[in-house]
Amino acid sequence: MIRCLLITFFVSSALCQTSTNHALLDKEDVQLRLTDSAKGPGFSLVLSRIHDISDGTAIVIAVLGLRVGNPIDIKLKDDVELYFNNNITLKITYTHVQESRGFDVSVVWTAPADVRLEDCVNLGLDHWYGGPQQKRQFWPIEKLVLHEYSYITKEADNCGIAEPYWLSSSGVFYYFDRKVPLFVDQNVKEHQAACFIAQVKSPYSSNREQNSLAYNIGIFDDARQAHQYAIAAHLNKPGGMPDERMITNPIWSTWARYKRNINHDVVLKFADEINSYGFPNSQIEIDDLWEVCYGSLTVDERRFPNMKDTVDKLKEKGFRVTLWVHPFINKGCEPWYSEAKENGYLVVSEAGSVETSWWNDNGTTTSHLDFTKPLVQKWYTERLRALQTAYGIDSFKFDAGESSWTPQIPVLQGDKANHPTVITEDYVRTVAQFGPLVEVRSGYRTQDLPVFVRMLDKDSYWSFENGLPTLLTTALQMTLSGYPLVLPDMVGGNGYNEPPSKELFIRWLQATVFMPGLQFSYVPWDFDNETIKISQSMVQVRQKYSTVLTGAAASGAPVVAPVWWADPNDREAQGIWDEYLVGDILVAPVLTEGAVSRDVYLPRGRWRVTETSLVLDSGWHRELPAPLDTLMYFVRETL
Ligand SMILES: *[C@@H]1O[C@H](CO)[C@@H](O)[C@H](O)[C@H]1NC(C)=O
Ligand SMILES: *[C@@H]1O[C@H](CO)[C@@H](O)[C@H](O)[C@H]1NC(C)=O
Ligand SMILES: *[C@@H]1O[C@H](CO)[C@@H](O)[C@H](O)[C@H]1NC(C)=O
Repeated sequence: MIRCLLITFFVSSALCQTSTNHALLDKEDVQLRLTDSAKGPGFSLVLSRIHDISDGTAIVIAVLGLRVGNPIDIKLKDDVELYFNNNITLKITYTHVQESRGFDVSVVWTAPADVRLEDCVNLGLDHWYGGPQQKRQFWPIEKLVLHEYSYITKEADNCGIAEPYWLSSSGVFYYFDRKVPLFVDQNVKEHQAACFIAQVKSPYSSNREQNSLAYNIGIFDDARQAHQYAIAAHLNKPGGMPDERMITNPIWSTWARYKRNINHDVVLKFADEINSYGFPNSQIEIDDLWEVCYGSLTVDERRFPNMKDTVDKLKEKGFRVTLWVHPFINKGCEPWYSEAKENGYLVVSEAGSVETSWWNDNGTTTSHLDFTKPLVQKWYTERLRALQTAYGIDSFKFDAGESSWTPQIPVLQGDKANHPTVITEDYVRTVAQFGPLVEVRSGYRTQDLPVFVRMLDKDSYWSFENGLPTLLTTALQMTLSGYPLVLPDMVGGNGYNEPPSKELFIRWLQATVFMPGLQFSYVPWDFDNETIKISQSMVQVRQKYSTVLTGAAASGAPVVAPVWWADPNDREAQGIWDEYLVGDILVAPVLTEGAVSRDVYLPRGRWRVTETSLVLDSGWHRELPAPLDTLMYFVRETL
């Protein structure tokens, strides 16, 4: 089948190169728009639908247009380069993706540094996926409200992963170049629109020679084809497998249950309890606080008088041991702080300050190591290796990494157009060298690394306010940003508000049983015997299906896949956020307090209700029973 692709290009020579008069645009026509901050709306770029001539189905095609002038038809395969007044250029190149009958259009605006560039995409009636990681994580994301949102990794809103990728249910994606000083305005300036803005202003350095708004538009038959192409051509995927035992068995963290009150005795008792209830482990993770001061990477001997002995004993009990670490050094944490400062290892702001803050600076101040400097990478790595050698530590949990923790606006190394998010990339790349047990929690253009990426800390709520439902929506957001090795936060959440109830704990465990990783900190035996029994059976379910999980992880495809992955044109499936697919298994956990049943939507195929002989057809199944001990999951029948 041959598609006839035409780009209708309305040219007014008066607008190109010489004229200083900008045409005013008919708002109805405008979906992508260039705005010159000094002069208001300038030119329009319209993305609209034309029809596939062969079978009449609508597909999305880029149609460029200026409002006035005589239309000229040019073939889209011809690269377009246009020069506008004020040194603004637009270059459009086009690739036909033969194997999947799709198109990849590269759009590059460049302008002087003081010009604001803005393209708006009408979100239409499609569902949209991707976008920034958010505390109140929507899925799909078309209702997300972003007000000139700086697209960097940041603490605010739990934006640990900030891949500027928007994918629509109709098979179109937008992926923005890393060099764009990007802001996104969604549903604020315009309803049902996402406006992508390039502007040289904070948190980006003003020290840029020019501004640019560069992105790729992918146009495919459906969202799955679009996403598969995006992974291959733009997003990338893990170039290897993480540790298999970390997929099969749960991690046991000290954090939520003990917070900072840990020492040798506490950790050993924790390990004994885990074993006595017959739970398997991937590793025990010694979290905050084990350091003598934050950033020392030196054991506090008041808590762990002989860390080698602690680790040896844990290993005798069958545990591997990981330590929690981070990229900060608190002021006053000597002699390490002074050493780092004197050697220029700390991130310095444009104003010349090395001081910033984090959640553990205890009201004083801290500094952030500059991982864009190879010497810092080396210093940090060597100190961690020394800990491993001295005590037999297996690996580390690497916290933070979001660029907002550095003093603002940071002066970093390398191409200025990659600042500030390059700090996230360089940190994550440095620490990924510690091998297959590594966990990180931030990501920027690091989809190729075979490491677990943890969700930012969840709260022990039933609500969308960073509670249980957001485990699924965050997993989907991470997956569709190209990070399939999702490590959900600890079962029951962190208990910052209050510890989880028994019911929340069990439903949380069920929701994450089929995710690539599983972490406990609150423990079943702090509730009652029923919780222990249900938890043991859930861990067994996970082990039973571990080859499904490792197989999915090895494929590089989404492990926690949205339901539409099974049938991308299923309109109903496109809107579903509270179920997910792992290979041929569909998981439908209960996410509502007090509920003992739920509605389940099954996509195309026949689905066997697990542990029964009942087989269900696709479509809605209302109020299927799911008492507290039941996680509903379905296995697709092979035909
Ligand atoms: C366009 O760029 C040229 C060369 O860099 C410069 O001399 C000129 O002043 C610029 N014009 C405008 C309108 O910015
Ligand atoms: C924070 O400061 C308080 C008061 O100075 C001190 O008692 C406490 O130990 C500090 N906490 C940490 C984690 O350093
Ligand atoms: C819980 O189970 C243990 C071991 O089977 C048993 O000894 C104990 O009595 C049970 N507790 C309750 C409250 O049933």
